[in-house]
Amino acid sequence: MENKIKKTGMAQLIIDGKTYDLPILSGAVGPSAIDVRALYKDTDHFTFDTGFTSTCSTESQITYIDGDKGILLYRGYPIEQLAEHSTFLETAYLLMNGELPTATQSVEFSNTITNHTMLHEQIERFFNGFRRDAHPMAMLCGTVGGLSAFYHDSLDIEDNAQRDISMHRLIAKMPTIAARAYKYSIGQPTIYPDNSLSYSENFLKMCFAVPAEKYEVNPVIADAMDKIFILHADHEQNASTSTVRLAGSSGANPYACIAAGVACLWGPSHGGANEACLKMLNEIGTVDRIPEFVARAKDRNDPFRLMGFGHRVYKNYDPRAKVMQKTCHAVLGELGIKDSPILDIAMELEKIALNDPYFVEKKLYPNVDFYSGIVLSALGFPTSMFTVLFALARTSGWISQWNEMLEDSTQRIGRPRQLYTGATARDYVPIGKR
Ligand code: CMC
Repeated sequence: MENKIKKTGMAQLIIDGKTYDLPILSGAVGPSAIDVRALYKDTDHFTFDTGFTSTCSTESQITYIDGDKGILLYRGYPIEQLAEHSTFLETAYLLMNGELPTATQSVEFSNTITNHTMLHEQIERFFNGFRRDAHPMAMLCGTVGGLSAFYHDSLDIEDNAQRDISMHRLIAKMPTIAARAYKYSIGQPTIYPDNSLSYSENFLKMCFAVPAEKYEVNPVIADAMDKIFILHADHEQNASTSTVRLAGSSGANPYACIAAGVACLWGPSHGGANEACLKMLNEIGTVDRIPEFVARAKDRNDPFRLMGFGHRVYKNYDPRAKVMQKTCHAVLGELGIKDSPILDIAMELEKIALNDPYFVEKKLYPNVDFYSGIVLSALGFPTSMFTVLFALARTSGWISQWNEMLEDSTQRIGRPRQLYTGATARDYVPIGKR
């Protein structure tokens, strides 16, 4: 990566009457940053920023979010345009390479991905070791990490060609692993990849076909699946991406790094939110119970939060939520679902929350997960698969960010510091004297 950060000014910091000059750095767009890299060396002070709310961990040229305006760009292209006109594979190429592919590059890339969709047969045995009721995320996390035990030919992260192969492998094999985990969890036989199908069609077939019956992919459903993958492909330095980068900063192999990202994504504040949101909508059950849940969300003494609302970065409508809402209507329309009590509750809840002073003042808007659970369950996925689908899509972003980090000559091992408040030095007490 060619570093493009510019020094655009100086800030002054006064500690105990002594003034320190700190460079101000700017990117192409968005807030500038105060360069504190020399702060500890020069002042003997750290910065304190739990949750990294004001900290840039890296320079990046992949994804840009303007949370106040509700803008999300992949390599400069608005998410709405990509969801409307692009495909997931083209978007993955864009994230990885920085530019949209030409027609020839697009065919080549699709062929490369398609040719890597199969898993090593021995991975079947790996799956067989899981309990029959294992959560698909547990299987995904374990199996993705396990790929490093199968592909020794692409573990040298200093070799560009090996990095390329592992990036392609991960994007290609993620749907196969995800579908395999799903089939295993419901006790159905494996459906092998079908290389005549598009990325999303193939994934749907691997999930929903059974050997005993013919399976036709519904193009509207495949298009919705592709859009969902595009919406989830990248989101700058979120928790799981930062995890992938942190793991990668030590030189760990790409499969291990992506497994770390999968683990981080699993949590309900991150990738698990759509599962939690659908659960919440079901719990609400009827439109007349919405006020009760809204009141609970506003009650400081109640830990309950409205799932699918709020975001660390978006202080406006999450642009992905708008596309997701449209996709939700398209899917339900295609499937002939005219009455969806859950969708009714979601739409009414959205209306009420958007007009409630608590949510307005705190700038809590629906996020991508608000509607995605409804769409995914209409597509036939159980809630346990929601985060798996998110991980599948996000692999394209994770791997692009991982590669960008390795190409960045300023990259160093990630190593945050702490403010220690534990016991100070004391002598060991023998067990008889405690
Ligand atoms: N319902 C009710 N109150 C909320 C909510 C919510 N969903 N989200 C934030 N708040 C309140 C929170 O209580 C706090 O109030 P106060 O200032 O009075 O203490 C204030 O808003 C700020 O919240 P925060 O927790 O400091 O904000 P954060 O940036 O640390 O958290 C979040 C962001 C996404 C974790 C949080 O909004 C949340 O828990 N939302 C529900 C879970 C969810 O939908 N997550 C999906 C995120 S999008 C997918 C992804 O990118 O992974």
